[in-house]
Amino acid sequence: MNLQNPALAEVEARASAMLSVETRIYTERRPKALASTQAGNGFFDGVPMHWMLDWPMPFPMIVDKASGVRLIDIDGNEVVDLCLGDTGAMFGHGPAPILRALEGVAHRGLTTMLPSADADVVASLLVERFGLPRWQIAATASDANRFAIRAARAVTGRRKILVFDGCYHGSVDETLVDLVDGKTLSRASLLGQAVDLGENTISIPFNDEEALRAALASGEVACVLTEPVMTNCGMILPEEGFHDSLRRLTRETGTLLLLDETHTISSGLGGYTAVHGLEPDILVMGKPIGGGIPVSIWGMTADVATRLDKARKARDTSGHSGIGTTLSGSALQLACLRASLEQIVTAETYARMARQADVIDEGLRAAIANCGLPWTVTRVGARLEVVFTDSPVRNAVDARAAASSIVESALHLALLNRGFLVTPFHNMILVAPPLEEHEAQGLVRAYRDVLGELAASKAVA
Ligand SMILES: Cc1ncc(COP(=O)(O)O)c(C=O)c1O
Repeated sequence: MNLQNPALAEVEARASAMLSVETRIYTERRPKALASTQAGNGFFDGVPMHWMLDWPMPFPMIVDKASGVRLIDIDGNEVVDLCLGDTGAMFGHGPAPILRALEGVAHRGLTTMLPSADADVVASLLVERFGLPRWQIAATASDANRFAIRAARAVTGRRKILVFDGCYHGSVDETLVDLVDGKTLSRASLLGQAVDLGENTISIPFNDEEALRAALASGEVACVLTEPVMTNCGMILPEEGFHDSLRRLTRETGTLLLLDETHTISSGLGGYTAVHGLEPDILVMGKPIGGGIPVSIWGMTADVATRLDKARKARDTSGHSGIGTTLSGSALQLACLRASLEQIVTAETYARMARQADVIDEGLRAAIANCGLPWTVTRVGARLEVVFTDSPVRNAVDARAAASSIVESALHLALLNRGFLVTPFHNMILVAPPLEEHEAQGLVRAYRDVLGELAASKAVA
């Protein structure tokens, strides 16, 4: 029961009843997946990666085929995918340019730990598209963030990093912290945590200029690592002027600004940075940037590059830098990055995504208004979220107060049973370029139906 938000508490009671009905429907439609779950297999917990159990589904649907925005599971259920692997397939499943690139590179060698023939073109595309002059390739966004933090520390000679409460930047130790009663602590849910992450990380609330000023004043912070819009604790938009303050205060204190655009790539061409004219020292992108294969990019200003080079040469020994992995910068990654940047991540693609995101945005707002729920929609380009409060959340404390896991689960499963898969965390809706208007309208109708049940005065039987 949500005691902080009494209006939500009534909806939660109805959500609980809805959840049991939808659980039964989901289960009846998936006998093969259920049998597989019950039989178990050689995977720990029965799945290749244990988060696959963290969806609000009673057991995971098992995907037979993903193409465009359609998923078909082994039980023959077809759904429209608006989760897109939580952004990994933001530009759709198996876009044709990536399939062609994969076919081509398969015959020329996947990985050699040497630059491949695509290297020069990819470097130019990165510089032109994202506005920073020097780039490196990694395998995942987690890796890119790890390397970028290490570079920031090498360049500044400082130990600490600053993140915002409610952040997620992948499996990067330094960032897996929470702000609890004013203290930065290792996240309570971590497994095998051996060191106190609060020693080197400062966590403060997003949109809090005073807290930022105070935290940076000592000059101990190597970099502020943030998403331009927080997307992992619900979506938290920056308040007017917050990015200006962030840039000014980081510059004044010699702190690097590291922007993680792994999710905000949804904003438009060049990410939130290009769309809003931000000036990061280091920029990270991952997940869909290479069309769904494991590749991420991190770019830096000329100043950071020069200082990093100096730091590297100043070491009195060569050997492991702690930056890079064997499979990073491979021919496979460069071929897919090239295809993606040349043919997929284009202004036309974003315009297409925006058209359907508009349809969903307007449709959901109307559906919410119709059923009288005090809720709203937050949007960052092609990424949308229904928030269970009518005023924008400013920080993670607000976002947590507005959240309800039971309502999220009921909504998730009810939408899935109506043919629409949204993200497992916060039910975000991601619009891929292949999404057609009739599918966007279909989602709106499904949402209207489910919201109607959640807002009704009587509990669902
Ligand atoms: C903002 C952000 N950065 C980094 C990551 C890590 O990405 P990956 O799991 O591909 O390493 C995530 C994952 O959700 C993310 O949301």
